[in-house]
Amino acid sequence: MSSFIEEEQTYLKSKIKECGYDSDEVVLNVSSRPEFGDYQFNGVMAMSKKYGKNPRDIATEIVECIKKDNHYQDINIAGPGFINITFSNEALIKHINDLNNNINLNYENDNPKTIFMDYGGANVAKALHVGHLRSANIGEALKRLSNALGNKTIADAHLGDWGRPIGLVMVEIKHRYPDLPYFNPNYTGEYPKESPVTNEDLMEIYPYASSKAKEDESYMEEARLITSQFQEGEKGLMALWHHIMEVSKTDIKRIYDKLNTTFEVWEGESDGYKYIAEMTEYLEKQHIVEDSEGARVINVKEENDDHEIPPLLLVKSNGSASYETTDLACIWERMKKWHPDEIWYLTDARQALHFEQVFRAAEKSHIVDETTKLEFFPFGTMNGADGKPFKTRDGGVMTLEALLDLAKVECEKKILPNITGEERDKVAETLSVAAIKYADLIPFRLTDYNFDPVKFSDLQGKTGPYLLYSTIRMRSLLKKANEANIKYNEYKIINNKLDRDIIICLLNLRSILTKSINVKSLNDITEHLYKITNLYNNFYANHHILTEEDKSLQESWLILTKVIYENNMKLLNILGIEVPERM
Ligand code: ARG
Repeated sequence: MSSFIEEEQTYLKSKIKECGYDSDEVVLNVSSRPEFGDYQFNGVMAMSKKYGKNPRDIATEIVECIKKDNHYQDINIAGPGFINITFSNEALIKHINDLNNNINLNYENDNPKTIFMDYGGANVAKALHVGHLRSANIGEALKRLSNALGNKTIADAHLGDWGRPIGLVMVEIKHRYPDLPYFNPNYTGEYPKESPVTNEDLMEIYPYASSKAKEDESYMEEARLITSQFQEGEKGLMALWHHIMEVSKTDIKRIYDKLNTTFEVWEGESDGYKYIAEMTEYLEKQHIVEDSEGARVINVKEENDDHEIPPLLLVKSNGSASYETTDLACIWERMKKWHPDEIWYLTDARQALHFEQVFRAAEKSHIVDETTKLEFFPFGTMNGADGKPFKTRDGGVMTLEALLDLAKVECEKKILPNITGEERDKVAETLSVAAIKYADLIPFRLTDYNFDPVKFSDLQGKTGPYLLYSTIRMRSLLKKANEANIKYNEYKIINNKLDRDIIICLLNLRSILTKSINVKSLNDITEHLYKITNLYNNFYANHHILTEEDKSLQESWLILTKVIYENNMKLLNILGIEVPERM
């Protein structure tokens, strides 16, 4: 069984054929003028070239010929040859019953792929900040959408666990506790099992060390040295590295958990690093690596470039690896271990050139197959209420956790007074995540927006909490019907325009899902959720569902409630939003 829209496209194609025409592909678009039809078919323009005929004449012939079919309530011509179609109520009723039997109908996929995703990127020993919020929200939602559409998707947390920040932290620990065994190269005993630092310590140490290094060149030099020493695997420093990793990873995971952001694989830059030697040897054999002032580079310029693309720096003149090299080595590893059809990266737009260089080098050197797609999906930034990059009151970088807390304070005000204690706190947290995620997914991926916790938590607005409130109300209506022993198995009659509009809105989901996955943006899904929920709330206000005397109507309304409820639950889950029991 396929989705309604696919069924309808196949049906219309066969009808057009019966009228003596052939259209390669029949696509039905949601009508922008619903007073003339539910859907529009725009394919006559292409057919007119093929048949050398005026499009309006072809459209007239087709409409005259199909009119006899009672599958359509109305079929008419618009403009130079567009065909408007209004489905019969019977066709819509069949669809709503199909959906009632299987809410997954809109998600079918004949061509599933293996997709590897990179949307974590949190840095070890550093606090997650707002920059990591959008990649987590958009990335997680795209993964869930991709999985719902039948793909196999593997996400890697891809921690920044191998760079200078860790060297800086190590230097500062060394200054504070010079007697720790990690810094004594002659130490032969066992290293302590306990980490010498907590996550709280790290949150204080990194900013301290980072600003100190900016003022003190010898301190910076120490950090460079210690970084290259642990990267070379110096025993004591590696033991310390493991402690820092464990402590920091636990906290990073705690925050990703809060955001319902999950990873199948918890690797990092250090894992790619292991493959650099093997990959470099391969690249050298390909004869694409060149010398450049003591460094080894890969030229990735192409003839028709409209902007400057500098060579990829494979080995720096001091022998160390660059950020590009690490990413290239990660692709090498990912191809070996997972052999994905596609790899998707999400970071803000400033890393565009970096990925362009890396992808070109991977393609040029055949580290990926010709069919493997490497894709970078940048996103816009979240700004403060003044439209400028988000900062704390004293001008510092806002941590992700502080941001969540701001939203939590607002959401807490919206919860029923009889919900208290631990439950109240838990619900406030769920609402705050819903508020932030939904607001983050409303704009098109590349569009910037402003953080506004009051607006994001408004129960009357286009917000996560509004959707949760409405969805919980659908659930409690269904529960009351069950308690009153009202049976509902089949949708039977459409008796007013609002009910019909709701069904049409549900029909559109298939096209919305397809578009969302194609453009890698969730904005049409957030829009759909809002639209259908609004329509439903209207419907709820207009119908007295539980007391309705006409049993066929009551049954139909309950089925519609159930389908919308299931549809909302499924889409909210794709967006990474949880629905509390009550709020
Ligand atoms: N750790 C990086 C940062 O915070 C993001 C990593 C993005 N992914 C990648 N494969 N380079 O900017």
